[in-house]
Amino acid sequence: MRHRIQLPMEEYKSLSQNEAFFYLTHDNGEKEKILFHDYARIYQTPKLYEQIFYDRLRCKSPQVVTDILYKALKTENKNFTELRVLDFGAGNGLMGEALDTYGVARLVGADIEAMAREAAHRDRAGVYDEYYVRDFTQLSENQISEIQDWGFDCLTTVAALGFGDIPVKAFHQAMNLINENGWVAFNIKESFITPNDQSGFSKYIRQLILSEHWEVHFIERYKHRLSLEGVPLYYYAIVARKRSHIPESLLPQS
Ligand SMILES: C[S@@+](CC[C@H](N)C(=O)[O-])C[C@H]1O[C@@H](n2cnc3c(N)ncnc32)[C@H](O)[C@@H]1O
Repeated sequence: MRHRIQLPMEEYKSLSQNEAFFYLTHDNGEKEKILFHDYARIYQTPKLYEQIFYDRLRCKSPQVVTDILYKALKTENKNFTELRVLDFGAGNGLMGEALDTYGVARLVGADIEAMAREAAHRDRAGVYDEYYVRDFTQLSENQISEIQDWGFDCLTTVAALGFGDIPVKAFHQAMNLINENGWVAFNIKESFITPNDQSGFSKYIRQLILSEHWEVHFIERYKHRLSLEGVPLYYYAIVARKRSHIPESLLPQS
């Protein structure tokens, strides 16, 4: 079923990416204003997320990140299907679905929103072996060991870093929950890795690249999706290998 959605172009001109919204018209004619970042609300309505971000704004990131991860493993003669993946910021499971096209050994989702897990189970039943609703900046010792028991050797995070979504500290925690020599595949808006970035990602990622804890295998600049005005938004897709535990000292000072 197609939803009746409206993107009010005129109203966007003064808004930043995280203030953007759209209208959903219900069957009774009522118009609801929904923020792009109100994921809990968007996931409540089946196929609304896909219709906005994937059909209308042509997001391709899950496939792009999956494909470069696949290429990176192939270059190293590693078997993609043996990966044990933690998909962080998994939402309703589009990255899980993309990984599933090649097949992986284990796939666990994690998100801060309970509604994301509900939607993933509803829309992509069976894609995830487990799905945790957790704030990774507040994990207890038990929760940490429960996640570590999966023996993850790959972390994926797609369309979920920055903009009031996953902060550096949570991403850092997620990377340290995968094994040494594990893979890290994610995307990030290009402005987040420029020197004047305020989110902390730029400094963190540049330090990682220069450190002995990380080895970069692929970086690709690509069109993540269209902006509301129809202009391409460029992101970097990055695949790296975590060589050793990443120290807290690399985190930006708050
Ligand atoms: C744009 S969606 C991307 C979902 C999915 N990865 C995809 O590619 O379709 C961003 C997701 O990040 C989640 N998120 C935001 N902040 C988070 C946090 N601190 N920890 C975990 N997930 C978070 C949101 O709930 C949302 O499901």
